[in-house]
Amino acid sequence: MAIRYELIKVCKQTGARLGKLHTPHGVIDTPIFMPVGTQATVKAMTPEELKEIEAQIILSNTYHLYIRPGHDIVKKAGGLHKFMNWDRPILTDSGGYQVFSLGPLRKIKEEGVEFRSHLDGSKHFISPEKAIEIENALGADIIMAFDECAPYPADREYVKNSLERTTRWAKRCKEAHKNTDNQALFGIIQGGMYKDLREQSAREITAIDLPGYAIGGLSVGEPKPLMYEVLDYTVPLMPSDKPRYLMGVGSPDDLIEGVLRGIDMFDCVLPTRIARNGTAFTSGGKVVVRNAIYQEDFTPLDPECDCYTCRNYTKAYLRHLVKCNEILASRLLTYHNLYFLINLMKNVRQAIMDDRLMDFRNEFFEKFGYEK
Ligand code: GUN
Ligand code: ZN
Repeated sequence: MAIRYELIKVCKQTGARLGKLHTPHGVIDTPIFMPVGTQATVKAMTPEELKEIEAQIILSNTYHLYIRPGHDIVKKAGGLHKFMNWDRPILTDSGGYQVFSLGPLRKIKEEGVEFRSHLDGSKHFISPEKAIEIENALGADIIMAFDECAPYPADREYVKNSLERTTRWAKRCKEAHKNTDNQALFGIIQGGMYKDLREQSAREITAIDLPGYAIGGLSVGEPKPLMYEVLDYTVPLMPSDKPRYLMGVGSPDDLIEGVLRGIDMFDCVLPTRIARNGTAFTSGGKVVVRNAIYQEDFTPLDPECDCYTCRNYTKAYLRHLVKCNEILASRLLTYHNLYFLINLMKNVRQAIMDDRLMDFRNEFFEKFGYEK
């Protein structure tokens, strides 16, 4: 077995889980937020900087690395860890989600998905077996099954067909995955916003013996309360002795609401993406750095943050960099936003340890400006 989930304790106030995930590249504290490094790089961050902010695991994308530079090249480099100079755990998403977001560029069949490259229009075919072949070549510690993420909204019939195909594909992924000693294959539960279909998918996917399970098909444009409702009835159907991963979720409120409902792992491009367009998460809420009100604001982005950016730069300076489109703006804001979420999760883990996660949630929402 490539990974082992160790449950440390359950919060008496909420039922949230504190744990450790043992992987071939080290131990991860859960609940955890995973920064996204789509192109074998977390945009604007060196691996040394990621370590400085205590990132424990990062996510990368099968689809993008297959298209460019090609998984054969990454394999020749000695695998993804060596290729990108990151020696801590890595998770690769299967490409299911990325291929499905190509829209008219793709055709779904039982065998797999035919699509055209977003770069040069060349034709490709990814099947569950091909996705696993690529993920085996990349060599991440955790690899995701090839799934179909239904759009929102989608009618019942469509969602039912796609979740049943996702189950058949998950079985084919497990069959194709040979490197089980070094790479843990996770299954993905689909089922859209339909309670009975989520139950069916959870039953079918967890019946396949895998070292971890994810919830996919959420944060696809549905209202937040609807996502929380889906989590309310789906998470309890997942085994409690294995990690539970909520895919594509990473706003501060969603992270906390996810942990409250029993999620252990999250990933999202949000902190890095909004950093590059000049927006920061802070303990007082979101700050749009470009805003004129910061022209002469010589205080740090977040007075409560002790990251490199907040210890050394003012809002007025950061605003200047953003307005000039300077590379340093992206670097400093990405550094801060990732630090903010990683630190948030550290505080969440401490609150679970102290049986006060609900109090922590209420205090955080009050300050950050979310409604209770
Ligand atoms: N990332 C966010 N949502 C999903 C999903 O449903 N499936 C996959 N493979 N990746 C995701
Ligand atoms: Zn900061």
